[in-house]
Amino acid sequence: MKRMLLLLFVIASAPAWAQQLPHIVILATGGTIAGAGESSVGTAYTAGKLPIDALLNAVPEARKIARLTGEQVASVGSQAMHDSVWLKLAKRINELAARPDVNGIVITHGTDTEGETGYFLELTVKTNKPVVLVGAMRSATAISADGPLNLYNAIVVAANKTSGGRGVLVCMNDNIFSARDVTKTNTTNVATFQSPNTGPLGSVLDGKVEYYHKSIRKHTTETEFDVSGVQSLPKVDILYGYANMNPTLVDALVKDKVQGIVIAGVGNGNLYPTVEERVKQITRDGIVVVRSSRTGSGRVTLDAETDDKALGTVVADDLNPQKARILLQLALLKTRDPRKIQEMFFTY
Ligand code: SIN
Repeated sequence: MKRMLLLLFVIASAPAWAQQLPHIVILATGGTIAGAGESSVGTAYTAGKLPIDALLNAVPEARKIARLTGEQVASVGSQAMHDSVWLKLAKRINELAARPDVNGIVITHGTDTEGETGYFLELTVKTNKPVVLVGAMRSATAISADGPLNLYNAIVVAANKTSGGRGVLVCMNDNIFSARDVTKTNTTNVATFQSPNTGPLGSVLDGKVEYYHKSIRKHTTETEFDVSGVQSLPKVDILYGYANMNPTLVDALVKDKVQGIVIAGVGNGNLYPTVEERVKQITRDGIVVVRSSRTGSGRVTLDAETDDKALGTVVADDLNPQKARILLQLALLKTRDPRKIQEMFFTY
């Protein structure tokens, strides 16, 4: 606690000229961007080792464009990300963004689930101020670490007025993505973040931000999701489809009392016949089943090869399975009616 107060004091006690700059709050959660390893040339390291002040000290240039303050919200590799950190982040961002002295927020995050956290925040934060997630593929101690430039770029994006009102953004490898559409596509490459269906919204280069597209799906202030009084999220799990899929996987989740299941189906979200039979039964019992696809891009279309009316299923549109899970969790806070939930999948 003492260390945190000292850190906040050191970061906040900026010279007078810096007080004129936009105030950007950095919320740190861990990840490779804060990772440290024994070797500078290997891929082995421990995520979430470095505190926020060490990350900021690596980009002294950022203090010329923004007044920076920071908070350590979590210190985890993002494979360990969970609902309670999402809820804590959303609530804290809503508090900070309501303050007139805060101009934007940057969240440092592991890349494994960065897109998921981004989409959760896209649906639950209530602000038009810039909210930008950033991570790194190489640890802070690696040769050619990408974290410092990514963090600098994210601060540039958050400090730029044109970034407001575009939903939650993910800034990686000089690109600016919509949190709804972005996903990690490669295990280790620095160009891993892509939006397969839509492409990036813009780019940040040489400290300059340029936007080329705008997401038209409803987000942030336009959504119906309010998590201010929410302590936990409904239990929703994902099943991965494959040839000769084992239908008892569905039974295992039902036994575990899920409220919803997302199936990463084959092709256009199609289901193995015996899985389809089970799905037909459980939707009658009130479990909401969403058909997404394991293909990595494209829309899952309603009542196409699969008869959603007969099965009682919902389609994920172009959300990948992990994003569909988040929307289903939030939807289940409001309703269990598959028709209303389908409408949400066509809206957000
Ligand atoms: C993590 O997601 O925390 C580990 C991987 C990364 O940040 O790149």
